[in-house]
Amino acid sequence: MDRQEHWQKIYHDKHFDQVSWYQDEARTSLNLIRESALRHDQAMIDVGGGASGLVDTLLADGYRDVTVLDLSSHGLDQARTRIGPASNAARWITADITRYTPTKDLDDPPPFYLWHDRAVYHFLTDPADQHAYRTTLCQSLKVGGHLILAAFADDGPTKCSGLTVRQFSPDSMTHDFAEYFTLVRHIKETHQTPSGSRQSFLYGLYERHG
Ligand SMILES: C[S@@+](CC[C@H](N)C(=O)[O-])C[C@H]1O[C@@H](n2cnc3c(N)ncnc32)[C@H](O)[C@@H]1O
Repeated sequence: MDRQEHWQKIYHDKHFDQVSWYQDEARTSLNLIRESALRHDQAMIDVGGGASGLVDTLLADGYRDVTVLDLSSHGLDQARTRIGPASNAARWITADITRYTPTKDLDDPPPFYLWHDRAVYHFLTDPADQHAYRTTLCQSLKVGGHLILAAFADDGPTKCSGLTVRQFSPDSMTHDFAEYFTLVRHIKETHQTPSGSRQSFLYGLYERHG
């Protein structure tokens, strides 16, 4: 089964509030987005947003240029159905982030002021995929824009949804993005899954410097 089939099957088989990464409220992400001082008219992207409720809150809060990208159309469809007609205010893209180009022309300026990723980059165990992700990130995010990355911490799980994941210390997360990003701060958080187990996450807020 390829990567896309894997994620399509997950969202075909499970409702958005049954997956282990489900949150009632994406509170830490929202706090970091507010801390980044993203204006309501500035473009942001939730990479691998799936059926996350983050977009619901962003639209309700008045953010007017929100893109949600995911490999699984089923995941995005669950979010759109939940939100209803208000979901038309967001842009929904089915794509693999390691193969996505954000602009028609590579000379076009990066479109986004903020890039949010909770639990997507940590699935990229192949260095070529990590490199492709970072290339897309740099084509997408303006200098001065913010990256919010949430991944399993070094005391977090080694697998998620049957797939091997990377774990991150504050140093290793910063190392991956150091060429173009300056750390603002890290937050460690324990996520409680719907089945009651606890998972250690590390969030990083970074500013693009070059
Ligand atoms: C663990 S879930 C996290 C979903 C969401 N970010 C959240 O916090 O609720 C990982 C998500 O990444 C998506 N995904 C995995 N690999 C991807 C890729 N290469 N490109 C785009 N999306 C991907 C999956 O379909 C899934 O929705």
